[in-house]
Order: sequence, then C-alpha cells, then structure tokens
Amino acid sequence: MNTPVVDVHTHLVPRGWPDLAVECGGEAWPWLRVETEREAMLMVGDREFRAVGSPCWDPPTRIADMDADGIDLQVVSPTPVFFSYERPADQAVKVARIFNDLALECTSHDRLIPFCQVPLQDVDAACAELDRCLAAGHAGVEIANHVGDRDLDDPRIVEFLQHCAAVGAPVLVHPWDMPAGPRLDRWMARWLTGMPAETHLSLLSMILGGVFDQVPASLRLCFAHGGGSFAFWLGRMDNAWHRRGDLVRGGSQHPPSHYIDRFFVDSVVFEHASLRLLVETLGEDQVVTGSDYPYPLGERPAGAVVRTAAFLSEPQRDKLLSVNALRFLGR
Ligand code: CO
Repeated sequence: MNTPVVDVHTHLVPRGWPDLAVECGGEAWPWLRVETEREAMLMVGDREFRAVGSPCWDPPTRIADMDADGIDLQVVSPTPVFFSYERPADQAVKVARIFNDLALECTSHDRLIPFCQVPLQDVDAACAELDRCLAAGHAGVEIANHVGDRDLDDPRIVEFLQHCAAVGAPVLVHPWDMPAGPRLDRWMARWLTGMPAETHLSLLSMILGGVFDQVPASLRLCFAHGGGSFAFWLGRMDNAWHRRGDLVRGGSQHPPSHYIDRFFVDSVVFEHASLRLLVETLGEDQVVTGSDYPYPLGERPAGAVVRTAAFLSEPQRDKLLSVNALRFLGR
C-alpha cells in the first residue's frame, strides 16, 4: 500500500492543566492526580474517573505504539469528559480554549492529527472556537452525540454542522453522557450498552430529523464504535419508516437506508462478523479504521480486525485502512 494507514479514533489527556475552578469558574472540574512520571488518575471532583498514562500526553510514546501497530497517522481527539456541555457556556468556552491549546502540545508530531473540542451548547461560540482551532493547527472537531436533551437534529446544532461543512472541517461524533440508573450503573453497562445506543440514536435523529436533507453532502462525519447499534438495526428502522410512517417518518424525505453514504463509521467492533456487517450494510467506502487508543475498551493492535479480516479483498482493506480516512480528513 502506498497511502498511509490512518487511525481516526484515538484520545488524549494532557499531563496537567490549570485549576479550572480558578480559570473558568464553577466547581467539580476534572483534575489530574499525578502518580508517577508515566501514570496518573483522572479525577472528576473527588471521584476517580479513569487511570491514564503517558500514551495520553506524550508524543514519543504514541509514535512508538503506532510503529508497533503499523499505524502511520493518528487522529487525536479530546476525551469527552472535558466537553463540559452541561456547564454555562462561558465556562465551556474557557475550558475548550485551554484543552485545545494543550492538545497541540500533546500532538506535536507530523504523524498526529489533532481534533478540537467546542462549547456546543453555544453554537456561535462553538463556530468561533472551531475557526480559532483550525487556524492554530487542528484538522477537525470531535463533538459529543448530544447536548442535554438536544440531539444532532437540534436546529442550532445543525447550524454548527453547516458551519463545519462550510469550512471543510471533518467531524467525529463520539457518544457520551449515557443514561444512568441502578440497571446501568453495574459493570460497565453504560459503556457496553449505553454508548452503542447513544450513537444509534444520534444517527436516527439525524436521519428522521431531516438533517441529511438539509446539510450539504460535502459534510464529512464519522461516528465512533462502528456507529453503535445502527447498522444491525437498519432493517428495523426502514420497516418502521414504511409501516409506521405516521409516527416514524418525521422530517426525512427517504427511509434510513437512503442516507448510509452520508457518514463514516469506525472499525472499533473487534469481531470480523461485526466488521463484515458494517461493510455489507453501509458499504466498503464508509468504514474507516479506528482504535479508541489508548483506552482499555479500545483495540490493540490498532486496526487488527481490519488487517485480519479474510472476507476483505486487498483493495477493500486499503479503503478501510487508508483511503476512506483520507477522504474523511479531506486529504
Ligand atoms: Co473513544
């Protein structure tokens, strides 16, 4: 293959940041309890959120892992816990600026491609921060899949997506803020069932909310974790659109399957059968390699499920490892 292998779904955490209560106002902010040179605990208020290590912030560690996994380029996005969409917009603006500037330090290598975060609860501020970041060296934006009770078909969020299309910024949509409750707070149920359902719901809201009928086809979107449970249930949604159109058709001009060439999904599904479902349902031009590096629910080596899938022809494998991602990135 002559084109670079791209991992479109990885995350960073900077190794420290200013006291956000002082810088941004508010309280119960994420902070980093540094344990050693290479290890830290990401804290939210007084709660341990996630153990993190030097792959989160240190470019040489990242590059060594990429070399080991055969990855040429990584898209490096924020960890969604910093998005702060639930906070007052002025606080979210400040925290976005701090982390977007730190992200450029964590990605100071020509094989690392930074994506920024934006204060999506205030679309004017989100557009301004995206523009600032694109000028500063970011190559795209990662957004969460909803803002409180507003999904991606919310008119103001659609305005943001229109802006992304206008400035040519690729958008990675990542699930977050999953429902909680006694049935979901056990094991990692919010990650194992909540995240796939969140992403499924985002795609459904974009389709039935008519967003794909409103935004230009040039908008480049990628949904994390294989698009969640969307592809598996595409037939159920089409059937409902035809047979319960009174309730389901919403604002979309066409059934859900009409829109499957309007977005990418990543390959973080682990199983060949699942990857095959994505390729056969959404198409060989719509699946890109992702890993969720460096987190434990991610795939290592990155891209293994794509490289070892016997059902893919070599031209198809090239598309999944490289060509489709370069199209997503606009390269
Ligand atoms: Co992720």
